[in-house]
Amino acid sequence: MPLTSSYAVPVEASKHVSEHKVPMRELINKHDVAKAFSAAAHEYDDFAQIQHRMAMELISEMPDRPFDSILDLGCGTGYCLPELQKRYPKAHVQGMDLAEGMLQHARKMYPQFQYFAGDAEAIPVDDQQYDLIYSSFAIQWCEDLSNVLTEVYRTLKPGGCFAFTTLADGTLRELKQAWKSADNYQHVNQFLSANDIESQLAQSPFLVSKSYLHTEIQWYDDVRGLTDSLKRVGAHNMTSGRAKGLTSTKAIKTFRQSLEQFRTEQGLPARYEVLTAILFRGPEATP
Ligand SMILES: C[S@@+](CC[C@H](N)C(=O)[O-])C[C@H]1O[C@@H](n2cnc3c(N)ncnc32)[C@H](O)[C@@H]1O
Repeated sequence: MPLTSSYAVPVEASKHVSEHKVPMRELINKHDVAKAFSAAAHEYDDFAQIQHRMAMELISEMPDRPFDSILDLGCGTGYCLPELQKRYPKAHVQGMDLAEGMLQHARKMYPQFQYFAGDAEAIPVDDQQYDLIYSSFAIQWCEDLSNVLTEVYRTLKPGGCFAFTTLADGTLRELKQAWKSADNYQHVNQFLSANDIESQLAQSPFLVSKSYLHTEIQWYDDVRGLTDSLKRVGAHNMTSGRAKGLTSTKAIKTFRQSLEQFRTEQGLPARYEVLTAILFRGPEATP
């Protein structure tokens, strides 16, 4: 199993360029996202160590208050639902995901919960349904964060809570840099900067109770182990700028050599810049 390490910094300290403008991201192909995660469903949990740890940490940071209705947005294999139920025993807990393969797995593993297919940018439920919407490592796959915020706000009851983790720019930085020296295609997904995420939160109608950036690094013995592992958690590139055909042998060789420059005693790094936030729909929010 790969080694992991982690450290946290306040979002303020991570700011470098502050233009207060959110750049356009490469279009995410949702069909490809759903397909990749459906294909990864059967072994996702064996490889998603960082995702599991971050998901549990988020649950431990959520407010101590009785929630009646909870939605896990982008629930994946469903392993967070029993943990949410444990934390909030009286709540009715549901899971939603874009990938049918993930939902099938979740239904099989945790049949005591209710699941439905849906897109976090167009949640297929009426207004004001949930007291808590929880989402870990999912909304970075959406095209526009502001759509997610609008939809979550709409489907939360007044006073409800939105707790999430998402990935920020800098994620897989070493991989991105190594590919840059190999060819002109985009091999790594684009993520919003922590600054841009924070400014979207500030512009949203939510009350921001908590928001911080956390760096997690998973270490691998070799390049194959690293790239395979990303595929197995469905996290390979799914944006429109990716190479559509086979990557040349020469480019792969250059990429491998270039990635080696980042090797440390612990191995080769897969870096995750994780932004955690806890928001409330006002006005009766009491963080
Ligand atoms: C990295 S997995 C995270 C799964 C789980 N929440 C966890 O913490 O391990 C990302 C999940 O988000 C789902 N997803 C991606 N885009 C989505 C969208 N627009 N709406 C809902 N779910 C989405 C994927 O299908 C996948 O199951």
